[in-house]
Amino acid sequence: MQARECCADRTDGFPQKTAAVSSILLCGEMGLKMEILKIEGGRRLEGAVGIHGAKNSALPLLAATLLARGTSEITNCPQLSDVAASVNILRHLGCRVTGSGGTVAVDSLPLCRSDVPDGLMREMRSSIIFLGALIARTGEAHMSFPGGCELGARPIDLHLAALRQLGAEIREERGRLECRAAGRLKGTAIALDFPSVGATENILLAASTAEGETTILNAAREPEIVDLCAYLTRCGAKIHGAGEGAITVEGVERLNASPFRVMPDRIEAVTYLAAGAATGGRLTLRGADPRHIATVLPAFEEAGCTVRCAGDELSLSAPQRLRRVRSVRTMPYPGFPTDAQAPLMAMTCVADGTSVFVENIFENRYKHAGELIRMGANIKVEGRVAVVEGVRALSGAPVECTDLRGGAALVIAGLAAEGSTSLRSLHHLDRGYEGLEDALQSVGASLHRIKE
Ligand code: UD1
Repeated sequence: MQARECCADRTDGFPQKTAAVSSILLCGEMGLKMEILKIEGGRRLEGAVGIHGAKNSALPLLAATLLARGTSEITNCPQLSDVAASVNILRHLGCRVTGSGGTVAVDSLPLCRSDVPDGLMREMRSSIIFLGALIARTGEAHMSFPGGCELGARPIDLHLAALRQLGAEIREERGRLECRAAGRLKGTAIALDFPSVGATENILLAASTAEGETTILNAAREPEIVDLCAYLTRCGAKIHGAGEGAITVEGVERLNASPFRVMPDRIEAVTYLAAGAATGGRLTLRGADPRHIATVLPAFEEAGCTVRCAGDELSLSAPQRLRRVRSVRTMPYPGFPTDAQAPLMAMTCVADGTSVFVENIFENRYKHAGELIRMGANIKVEGRVAVVEGVRALSGAPVECTDLRGGAALVIAGLAAEGSTSLRSLHHLDRGYEGLEDALQSVGASLHRIKE
């Protein structure tokens, strides 16, 4: 169906802002204000925190709602600026978006355009995930290149090559992507050079309503991929092998909207565990899924923490002084997640001994190390390797979030440090942590946001 057909259907004016949507949208705007997070360190964290829905699952799910005719109610959706950016794109495309609390309801029937303006593309790199969904739904997509990123080059060559294999004609000109497909996309065999999460998601979205069968070899196996496949399957897609290296998608003619609950955020869980460990605390996480962080938990145990899992509860009890974590190598799932590298590094800064990190996913993911050094950490970075010599104590300092997970590392360091830390560039944190200050205050941390 061409998008233009349905514009005339819209009778309600443009989507109303309900309380929840406006709070999600507000989140996005908040990041632009100059705010500082003041942290008084040296307090042991003790108590329980709840884990929100996963950002990295919510974003592709919101893009996927474009494919499902009718209203999809996505629950357990975190209220984050990246989610607000996705909502803005959906609304720009003509979808009706409403919601309350952590629920976002997307009615994709009124969709009436297939372009994403440059401003919206730049708000969030993962906006590229709309590419596969838009081509599949409207037969075209016009958007700017997502461009550079704080973690390095982050190309999208695998996304584009795969969509071309599925029959899309894609022109790259002057920073823009002009994409068209004559009729339905055509299923085919796609072998990825690297199990890219975003490329696998784009292929799944494009292949679900393509003609014939698509196989993805060397597909990403992350839990967020499994979540996306579960939603698409509920909407009527035929997908086999989600969570494995080979996924088969039998294209269907149409998908119908379905409610879906977003999985728990495994990186938020690791971040709180690292904060608990770095402060010698005792924390319980509620609503987590310990299976998703099975390869991270041994690092906490190696550091001397006791970790217990019971259903969706995970508790950690830390010793007074942590031990070093011999080696952390980031890998595609089920390996150690690159997003957990920075929070773990902050924890090892105050551990007894030498910890070694090897970053295998992104080329430039140690920017937080420079800021940790300002707080007294002893870290040497050489290419993909970072060597952390633990110190007895960090000292509070003015520091800046370098990116989302780097920002989380600085919060952890600030909580563990002696004295006061002022953290700037909080918009990075607002992309990925809902209610961070409230959660940490509730377990005994002293931190608050002030206007600069
Ligand atoms: C997703 C996550 C991000 C996480 C990352 C790796 C979301 C919204 N973001 O990002 O938090 O850190 O997975 O687990 O889910 N690459 C190419 N060409 C491509 C695509 C990727 O060379 O076309 C490279 C990237 O530069 C990077 C590596 O592959 O070095 C991994 O990237 P990818 O798995 O695609 O990560 P994202 O989907 O961008």
